[in-house]
Amino acid sequence: MSGTVFSGVQPTGDLHLGNYLGAIKNWIALQDQYDCIFSVVDMHAITQFQDPAALRDSTRKVAATYIAAGIDPDKALLFVQSQVPAHAELAWIFNCVARIGWLNRMTQFKDKAGKNREKASAGLYVYPNLMAADILLYKATHVPVGEDQKQHLELTRDIAQKFNTDFGSEFFPLPEPLIMGAATRVMSLKDGTKKMGKSDPSAASRIDLTDSVDEIAKKIRKARTDPDPLPGAVEGLSERPEARNLVSIFAALSGQTAEQVLGRHEGEQFSTFKADLTELAVGVLVPIGDEVARLTDDASGIDKILSQGAERARALSEPILREVHDIVGFLRA
Ligand code: AMP
Ligand code: TRP
Repeated sequence: MSGTVFSGVQPTGDLHLGNYLGAIKNWIALQDQYDCIFSVVDMHAITQFQDPAALRDSTRKVAATYIAAGIDPDKALLFVQSQVPAHAELAWIFNCVARIGWLNRMTQFKDKAGKNREKASAGLYVYPNLMAADILLYKATHVPVGEDQKQHLELTRDIAQKFNTDFGSEFFPLPEPLIMGAATRVMSLKDGTKKMGKSDPSAASRIDLTDSVDEIAKKIRKARTDPDPLPGAVEGLSERPEARNLVSIFAALSGQTAEQVLGRHEGEQFSTFKADLTELAVGVLVPIGDEVARLTDDASGIDKILSQGAERARALSEPILREVHDIVGFLRA
C-alpha cells in the first residue's frame, strides 16, 4: 500500500481510552505502510476558549502521548499545527470553497455549540474547513479517525471535489477515512448510549491515559453493566449497550474481535470479566502513562522534536500551497 496518512488530536485536556482505541493506537501500524503525518491540532483547540498555560501543557502532553503510544518521530512526521502557517492559509481558501449549507449540517458543531449557537465562535463553525486544510495540504489519501469524524471527512471530500471542479484541475485527492479496530466508538462507562469524551463532567465516565492502576480498577469496577452473564455471540449484545462497550474495549485492547472475546468469556459474570479487563487495561495503559510522565518532564526535549517536525512539515506543505495559489489566481510574490 502507498499513500499519505494524516491525523490529529486536539490538545484540550487529558486523552482518554476513546482517543487511544479510536485513533492513536491504529496509527502505529500505519507508520510502516504509509508516509504518516500526525499533528497536535492546537488551532482546532482554540475554537473553544483554552487557558494559555494549560494549552501549552496539553500540547506537549498530546505529543508525548503519541510517542509513548509508539509513534516514532523519525518515521512519522510529528508536529504542532500552529507552527505551520500554511494550515491557516489553506483554510481561508477553503472557507471560500465550502458552502454555508454544508457547514450547517455538521453535527459536531451542533453538539459543541449547544443551545446558544449565537455565542459560539466563528472558528467553531468553520472548523471543518481547517480540518480539510490539514489533510489536503499534504494531499493525504487516508485519515485514521474514530467514527465521530466521518462526517468531517465527507466534507473534506466535498471541498476537494468542489475545488477540483471549480478550477478544472485534478489537484486534490479525495481522502478516505480509515475507521479501524474493534472500538471505533468507545462509549461512556456510565451510559452506554453516550460517547466517551473529554468534556463529560463525570471523570468516572472515562479512563484517561494517565490514570493510575487504582483509578483504572475503580472506574472499571464501577462501570455500568446489566445483571446478565456474557452471551456467546455478538448478536446477544444488541440490546445491551454497556455490555457491548466493555466487550469492544476488551477486544480492541487485546487485538481480538468481539466474537473471539465472547468465545472465551461466554457465560461469565461481569465481576469476573471486569477483573480480566482491568488487568488488560492496566497492562496496556499504565506503561503509556508512565512514559508520558517521563517525556513531559523534559519539556525542552519535546519542544525540540516538535520544532524539527514543524520544519519538515513547512518544507512539505509550502510547494503545495504555492501551487494552490497559482491555481486560484494569486500573484506570485
Ligand atoms: P478529539 O478528542 O475530539 O480531538 O478526538 C481525537 C481522535 O479521537 C479522533 O480521531 C476521534 O475520532 C477519536 N475519538 C474521540 N473520542 C472517541 C471515542 N469515544 N471513541 C472512539 N474514538 C474517539
Ligand atoms: N477534528 C478532529 C477531532 O476532533 C481533529 C482533527 C483536526 C483531525 N484536523 C484533523 C483529525 C485532520 C484527522 C485529520 O477529533
